[in-house]
Amino acid sequence: MSESLLFSPIALRGITSRNRIWAAPMAQYSAPESGVPTDWHLAHLGGMARGGAGLVMTEATAVEPVGRLGNADTGIWNDEQVDAWRRITRFISDMGATSAIQLAHSGRKGSIRHRGTPLPAEEGGWQVVAPSAIATKVSPNHTHSPATRSQRSLPPTPTPRAVRSTQDSKWSRSTPRTAT
Ligand SMILES: Cc1cc2nc3c(=O)[nH]c(=O)nc-3n(C[C@H](O)[C@H](O)[C@H](O)COP(=O)(O)O)c2cc1C
Repeated sequence: MSESLLFSPIALRGITSRNRIWAAPMAQYSAPESGVPTDWHLAHLGGMARGGAGLVMTEATAVEPVGRLGNADTGIWNDEQVDAWRRITRFISDMGATSAIQLAHSGRKGSIRHRGTPLPAEEGGWQVVAPSAIATKVSPNHTHSPATRSQRSLPPTPTPRAVRSTQDSKWSRSTPRTAT
């Protein structure tokens, strides 16, 4: 009997995945404020590699602090995070799987709680940034449309600070979010 396509290797550019079972990115809402991946992420991603997946993708991982959706997202903007990721990707590789990362920037949809409500400054919320100073019309988790948002008296989505250049987007220059 011929081998099923699902379980046959696939080569893409310089990478060969041992099969076509790829784990989709799944936010864990489990990182500390630092954005450094922990044993949780090792168990979550490593377990799928050990289970036989061909490729294991990280959750949406922010490229700068203001690019996180919430304050329990993983990040990859400093060396401490890179070292922690390296431990995880080494394990994935040791299990014979390919590791991949979903690089993410939340833009105007950031600074929210798990359920999509804005994260207040006193709980670590921040000034969101975007190409234009236009607030998002949809809730990041899509469960609160503008209509249900007003019905439930949810706070409006924040207006982002417009970023005009890559230098301007430097996270160290971002200002704390002020209550509106
Ligand atoms: C718990 C959970 C977390 C998720 N987090 C992310 C994420 O970080 N990034 C993303 O692009 N999709 C995320 N998704 C969406 C999944 O990656 C996937 O696209 C979705 O579950 C549909 O997959 P399916 O078409 O194979 O059913 C998440 C899904 C779940 C269930």
